[in-house]
Amino acid sequence: MQKALELMQLLPEKFRARAERLLETVMTLGEVKSVSALGSMLPSVGRGLVLRLGRKQQATEMLSGHTAHFDWQYKSDFPEMRELYSRAKQNQWDSETTLDWSTDVDPMNPEVPILHKDFIALDGLPVKLDAAEERRLLHSVASWMLSQFLHGEQGALYAAAQVTESVRWMDGKLYGATQVMDEGRHVETFHRYLESKLNKIYTVNDNLFVIIDALISDPRWDLKFLGMQIMVEGLALGAFGALYRMTEEPLLKELLRYVIQDEARHVHYGVLALREHITKELSDKERREREDWAFEVALLMRNRFLAHEVYEEWFQGMMSRFAWNKLVTQSRGMREFRDVMFRRLIPNLREIGLLSPRIQGYYEKAGLMAFAGGADATHLSAETIMHDLDSTPGLTAAA
Ligand SMILES: [Fe+2]
Ligand SMILES: [Fe+2]
Repeated sequence: MQKALELMQLLPEKFRARAERLLETVMTLGEVKSVSALGSMLPSVGRGLVLRLGRKQQATEMLSGHTAHFDWQYKSDFPEMRELYSRAKQNQWDSETTLDWSTDVDPMNPEVPILHKDFIALDGLPVKLDAAEERRLLHSVASWMLSQFLHGEQGALYAAAQVTESVRWMDGKLYGATQVMDEGRHVETFHRYLESKLNKIYTVNDNLFVIIDALISDPRWDLKFLGMQIMVEGLALGAFGALYRMTEEPLLKELLRYVIQDEARHVHYGVLALREHITKELSDKERREREDWAFEVALLMRNRFLAHEVYEEWFQGMMSRFAWNKLVTQSRGMREFRDVMFRRLIPNLREIGLLSPRIQGYYEKAGLMAFAGGADATHLSAETIMHDLDSTPGLTAAA
């Protein structure tokens, strides 16, 4: 690995960037421990990491072979889901009228920072930035992050619609309809904030594209569910929470408060449905497959959301992609981000039966078992989550 990196430095800039990207793809695949999990994800890896369709295309068609399940009896069949459905109906909100869009947002204003300057380790950059450039860079990082939230929300919108068709519980279908509405509202809200307040939108990150492509095109409803409701949504819930604690910008803070409360319901629903399905309906072999798949997605998300699009825009040619990865991985803000995300995700995997002793060693090696003891989504109400976020000091501009 070290040798490959050294050799790469001898290449002309144009080829070096491509070679570094390819080596990174090979390393991503090299980490995968299960051939079957890799096999089902390989076409998506090709489309996302090799062809980079998310960046090159303005729109992408993804084929889905899932089954729509009709129920002509309409009986209420899952009281806890029914209860979530009632709560979801009562807690609907309209982004247009609930949020104060007249708020003046200026990403360059040092008094109201969107991200704390320690969010990425500015000391490790190859050039010294002045105060205005630092703010511009943080504006890029914030726009990048919120753009990925936006793309994730679009994935959630379609996945929620597919899952609503596929689940067998009537109460799950009714609940699912509210989630489709929620995700539509989230797309609207993040897009409006990015377009009208930050004035900058990044393309979908290649790794996020792979995950979305893999779960939208997989015909198995429970994998869509696992991918979207538990992994992407669980991590997003953590990421929204971390950003909520870090930002001082009032409109963004308020917007995240509303989104987090919706997302808490979504993850709760995911845990209810999958716990029932995985622990009671799947064979051991099928359960192991899901367990491996979830681990690969967790790794993809842990290692690879490193703001490469910001690197390419600002520092490509000045530092290697790997030096950037190291800098971002070790930054205070990013570390906090990762910790909050996995503190939400790992207990949910445990609760749905995907953290057997067989896989625990791998999570241990990846440094993720430390989070296994926390509360799962069925024991975390939106109020508890908000209370935790409001009462724990995070990386704020005042820090
Ligand atoms: Fe959402
Ligand atoms: Fe969601």
